[in-house]
Amino acid sequence: MSKNELEQGREQWGTRIGFILAALGSAVGLGNIWRFSYIAGESGGAAFLIIYLLAIAFIGFPIMMCEFMIGRRAQSDAVQSFHIIAPGKPWFIAGGVGVAAGFIILSFYAVVAGWTLKYLFSYITGGLWSTPSDGYESYFTSFISNTQPIIWQFIIMALTVGIVVLGVKKGIEKANKIMMPLLGIILLLLAGYSLTLGGAKAGLTFLFSPDWEAFRNPNVYLTALGQAFFSLSLGMAALITYSSYLPRKEKLPSAATSIIILDTLFAVIAGIMIFPAVFAFNAAPDAGPGLVFITMPEVFGQIGGFGIVIGILFFLLLTAAAISSAVSMLEVCVAYFMRKFSLSRKPTTILIGALIFIIGLPSALSATADAPLGGIHFLGDRGFFDSADFLTSNIMLPLGGLLIALFVGWTWEKSEMMRESDFRSSQFGSIFRWILILLVPIAILAVFVNSIG
Ligand code: PHE
Repeated sequence: MSKNELEQGREQWGTRIGFILAALGSAVGLGNIWRFSYIAGESGGAAFLIIYLLAIAFIGFPIMMCEFMIGRRAQSDAVQSFHIIAPGKPWFIAGGVGVAAGFIILSFYAVVAGWTLKYLFSYITGGLWSTPSDGYESYFTSFISNTQPIIWQFIIMALTVGIVVLGVKKGIEKANKIMMPLLGIILLLLAGYSLTLGGAKAGLTFLFSPDWEAFRNPNVYLTALGQAFFSLSLGMAALITYSSYLPRKEKLPSAATSIIILDTLFAVIAGIMIFPAVFAFNAAPDAGPGLVFITMPEVFGQIGGFGIVIGILFFLLLTAAAISSAVSMLEVCVAYFMRKFSLSRKPTTILIGALIFIIGLPSALSATADAPLGGIHFLGDRGFFDSADFLTSNIMLPLGGLLIALFVGWTWEKSEMMRESDFRSSQFGSIFRWILILLVPIAILAVFVNSIG
């Protein structure tokens, strides 16, 4: 343990870059590749992208700053951090929403991560070296309609637990230091290759030239907001937890800016990797959640032998990105329960990991209507799986984010807020403060009301 840690009795990041890579690892995940591409595909491409970028800049950045400020200041877990800063007040509920969201998101996230791992395995061992006998679509739907995904979901949870058990520096930081640069390289390689496939013009037009009609659809705004929260890992105290391992002297605005820019680049470059390929082979951009699992393998299949290598790289990218995000969700829950029940890291991680695996079983078994639990519907005719995603991404994360923004914007004194944000008395500080006090709450509420209406 370092001197700082001994003084504090709490784990810390080894280096500043280690923290930034870990936070980036949390942010960059299935959200940037699987979720971003299918949602952008369904929501009109460029129009969605514009609203998404606005949401990132004006809502994502301020809320990320707030999470960092709370974590670095309190040096504690999602719930206790609020107790420390505002004793006796109900703000800790924001942290509670975060821990609950962590449980639910990871429960279905591990299922999708499991699918990517299964595809990686099939590309390595030959299962996908040629077109499956019934085609790629039924290969995917029959896989997710039976009980097999549970095995893959289990392996993902085991790997995630394995990293979190090792702790902040030796587990989370180290894993991200290896995985993040690797992900960057694979993504750039694949995007560069995709641009040579002949669909570049159509793919880029789809992604970058807006269909103005889409702006009239209120759901596009909620979807973009939910995606901004999901992709930046906001609203569930993941970044409160991560920044609580940060020495007090580390500066926040530059860290938040780099994470936001890199996460957005990851999503946009993932779009540049996926849509040109989709258009080059006349596949449909609005294929939904299956885009990455049906359309992309179809594309790889048409490339020929080299497509196998691309398939391996693509699903390696997805799996590694997913695991580094899953680690952050698990850490939110583990940090909370370790403190709450005075347990050590290992038993807590294993226990919580097992619990989340069990909670995820209904999602694993309800991804299609034909799946064993696919017939059970709630929340506007959604199955377990879609309900878990909708409830967390579109409701719990924005709600958690709203509470976090209100907490910092409305209850911290101006001078305290300026100091803790590291903006001090600069112009940026005042702008940041007004964005938090007015713009963020109004925007989130407006999007909520609009989509309910
Ligand atoms: N940001 C992750 C992704 O894009 C998902 C995530 C959400 C991680 C919330 C942590 C907290 O895939």
